[in-house]
Amino acid sequence: MTLQAPLNSPILDCLRAHRSVRDYSDAPIDNDLLATLIEAAQHAPSSSFIQAYSLVRVNRPEARARIAAAAGGQRWIEQAPAFLICCADLRRVDRACRDKGRGELEGWAEHSLAAIIDCALFAQNLLLAAESVGLGGVFIGGIRNDPGVVVDTLVLPELVLPVFGLCLGWPSEQALQQTAKPRMPVELILHQDRYRDPDPQQIGAYDATMAAHYRGRGSHARLDDWSAATANAMQGKKRKHMLDFLRRRGFFKR
Ligand SMILES: Cc1cc2nc3c(=O)[nH]c(=O)nc-3n(C[C@H](O)[C@H](O)[C@H](O)COP(=O)(O)O)c2cc1C
Repeated sequence: MTLQAPLNSPILDCLRAHRSVRDYSDAPIDNDLLATLIEAAQHAPSSSFIQAYSLVRVNRPEARARIAAAAGGQRWIEQAPAFLICCADLRRVDRACRDKGRGELEGWAEHSLAAIIDCALFAQNLLLAAESVGLGGVFIGGIRNDPGVVVDTLVLPELVLPVFGLCLGWPSEQALQQTAKPRMPVELILHQDRYRDPDPQQIGAYDATMAAHYRGRGSHARLDDWSAATANAMQGKKRKHMLDFLRRRGFFKR
């Protein structure tokens, strides 16, 4: 497969410039700007147009501190000018079904997946919209370490599932120096007509690229590569409470 020279467009540039930003200047985010970004992000496609997501902005410092502690002490949760919890939200959908005499939702896996996919597409649109105006941010899956804390702190009712958090702010000088992490070559991602297992040589080459990237990160240098980091991340973070938690929220019950 021959790859064409990279094309450019403002959106392609913005996508390629993405890096998670965890360090912010003190400047606040204007409420109107945030509302505009959310409105634009809502134009994400939505399965059957159910728009099954909600955001909860967390303003109270005590609430941020509680959630940050539950997420493993991620200080950017407390420091970011805006911290939002991105939720898969089936409550409006459930109401529509009941109002129209079609019965309540019953926790089907299909509905659960649709809501979580909607939430993720919307949230990535929101981060991209934010990056397009110079903001930076990072998703916070760490809220799933102890998701009951988020439910209690934000008084989330059934059928509202906190999926991940999103910190947003204007990048600090230091954050602006950060380089984007190299991604896997397209050949590893794109299959033609049938699936082919990853070529160990291509994975090895990507591991070498990532090892060099990690080693070159100055004070944030690390000594592993993609495979080692992935194995540590996955096998060290099973969050065995998740299946029960999902079911108690009314998701994946059947
Ligand atoms: C769903 C999701 C959850 C994440 N959770 C965290 C998190 O809890 N803390 C954190 O610092 N980064 C988190 N990240 C950011 C990833 O670590 C980051 O996207 C990845 O390492 C690639 O780096 P980049 O975003 O700078 O390109 C999360 C990303 C995603 C998509």
